[in-house]
Amino acid sequence: MSAKVGVDLIKLDQPIAFDPADQAKIRDMLARYPADQRESAIMPALWLAQERFGFISQDAVDLVARSLDVDSSVVAGVATFYTMYHLEPVGRHVIEVCTNVSCALLGAQQTLEAFERECGCHAGETSGDGEFTLKAVECYGGCGWGPVVAIDGRYREPVRAADVSAIVQEVRMGVRENPG
Ligand code: FES
Repeated sequence: MSAKVGVDLIKLDQPIAFDPADQAKIRDMLARYPADQRESAIMPALWLAQERFGFISQDAVDLVARSLDVDSSVVAGVATFYTMYHLEPVGRHVIEVCTNVSCALLGAQQTLEAFERECGCHAGETSGDGEFTLKAVECYGGCGWGPVVAIDGRYREPVRAADVSAIVQEVRMGVRENPG
C-alpha cells in the first residue's frame, strides 16, 4: 500500500524491481537484525534502492517496503526525513555543502556560492548539462573541520571557496578522493 507522508513522492511510469543479487543483499540486511525489528534494515535497503534507481520514488519506497515486509508509510517516513535520500532525479554528481552553524562560521556560505558559480546551478538544483546536483545540507558531524562537503557520498574538509574551482574540475574529470 502506498503512503502519504506530506511529501509527494514521484510515481514512475513503469514498475521497478530488485534483481536476484540485490534481493540477496536485502536478505543479508534483514539477517543482521532480530525478526521483530525488520524496520532496522530500511536505511540500507533505501540506500541500495537509490544506488539502483538513482533516486527514491514512491515505487522505490513500495519496493523496499515489500522487500522488507514493513509498512510503506514507515519507509516513506525514513526516506523523507534524511537528506541523503534523493527524492527526485539528480545529476551524475551530487555535491552537498554543510551550511549548519559551525561550517557557516568557517565560510560555508562562500563555499556554497563558489560551487553555485562553478556548477552553474543554485543549491537545490541540477545543472543544465545534468552533471551536478548541488544541495545545502545540515550537520555532518565534522563541525571542527568545516566547511564540510560531500561529493558523491565522500566527505572532504575543509573546503574553502578558493578550493572549489579545482575540485569541480577534478569531479568533471572523474578524479576520485579517498573515502572520508
Ligand atoms: S556544522 Fe557542518 S559538519 Fe557540523
